[in-house]
Amino acid sequence: SRTYRIVTLPGDGIGPEIMAEAKRVLASVGRAYDVEFACEDHLIGGAAIDATRAAGGPVSALPDETLEAARAADAVLLAAVGGPKWNDTTPGAVRPEQGLLAIRKQLGLYLNLRPVRVYDALAQASSIKPELLKGVDVLIVRELTGGLYFGRHERNHDVPGAAMGGGAGDTALDSMEYSELEIERVVRWAFDAAERRRGHVTSVDKANVLETSRLWREVAHRVASEHPSVESEDMLVDNTAMQLVARPAQFDVMVTENTFGDILSDEASMLTGSLGMLASASLGDGTALYEPSHGSAPDIAGRGIANPIAQVLSVELMLRYSFGMDEAADALAGAVDDVLAAGWRTADIAEETTPEERRLSTSQMGDRLIEAFEARATRQG
Ligand code: NAD
Ligand code: IPM
Ligand code: MN
Repeated sequence: SRTYRIVTLPGDGIGPEIMAEAKRVLASVGRAYDVEFACEDHLIGGAAIDATRAAGGPVSALPDETLEAARAADAVLLAAVGGPKWNDTTPGAVRPEQGLLAIRKQLGLYLNLRPVRVYDALAQASSIKPELLKGVDVLIVRELTGGLYFGRHERNHDVPGAAMGGGAGDTALDSMEYSELEIERVVRWAFDAAERRRGHVTSVDKANVLETSRLWREVAHRVASEHPSVESEDMLVDNTAMQLVARPAQFDVMVTENTFGDILSDEASMLTGSLGMLASASLGDGTALYEPSHGSAPDIAGRGIANPIAQVLSVELMLRYSFGMDEAADALAGAVDDVLAAGWRTADIAEETTPEERRLSTSQMGDRLIEAFEARATRQG
């Protein structure tokens, strides 16, 4: 049987808890489809900072050894990084999030896909009125290796006259830059995806204020003219934030720059009921990386109550995009449908009316998902 080598990066907070379930799911997929997933854990984020500090070498949130393993692997599965323990705001301090940004940049993962699907069974768990959620299926295409995240970051101490009238203290700078190439490759991907979906692209920018957005819009129009079968529109980001909760069903593919995509995807996750439902795939030049859209959830870490579904749906995207295992991916996505339809809930998606016996821990949700997956895989076979 075929072997796929997966670098697993549990990271911090709830990361190890949800990663454990993803690995069990992978093992189950392997048994059902006669492939082997060889998972190997490596360090990233706060866990890497602690380990490199303890080892007495250079402190790093992305050790070389992790990056080399990721480069050599068939795919990378990441959980989450960060937490209050490492919230050191001293200039120059190593932060867990740097590890995540570095691995994205080093692997050339410029494209981040965040599919937002609404599950009928969760309509009540969403903060949005159920009638507005009918048929909502948005693919957020987020640029991932440019913009503010990778600009110049500076802190200048007490520049005389630099702030209002001078003497107003330090100044700080984060610069935002985009090249046509960086914009075009993600916008093009969005239009190609729209051709395979419902044929509509919303390109989100702030062209009424930002030069980068005016360049973005120019490129988007050029790409649009090459896709006559796709209907497209520009939308300002502030209006988009409102439209997402007012009339979410209007969107098919949404494409936008790094920071806007970060913020809008967290907002969009509420359409599905919880941030714990939103998976993502980061694609580009090097080994693809799959990760939930949420963070390390320090507020619930260590309690075994986190929702593992975003992590499991990240495995689904991995099966699809990296291994071409569409049948297995369909069975896994279907398993999530089945489990939710049967009323099983982790705390974040439970309702007042959810009976006690349907309320699950992280690992119990893993059990239900595997059971439902195996039932589907058996029927397929
Ligand atoms: P967060 O996404 O970790 O949590 C936001 C809220 O959503 C919390 O109330 C949390 O309990 C809840 N939540 C998130 N995932 C959940 C899950 N699977 N199940 C149930 N509830 C879930 O965002 P935050 O609190 O703003 O950030 C915490 C840390 O995570 C920060 O250090 C941040 O930088 C980091 N972060 C990392 C990633 C990543 O590794 N990809 C993404 C976002 C944030
Ligand atoms: C995400 C996260 C990261 C981002 C942080 C942790 C750097 O919020 O993946 O959405 O902003 O890209
Ligand atoms: Mn985010």
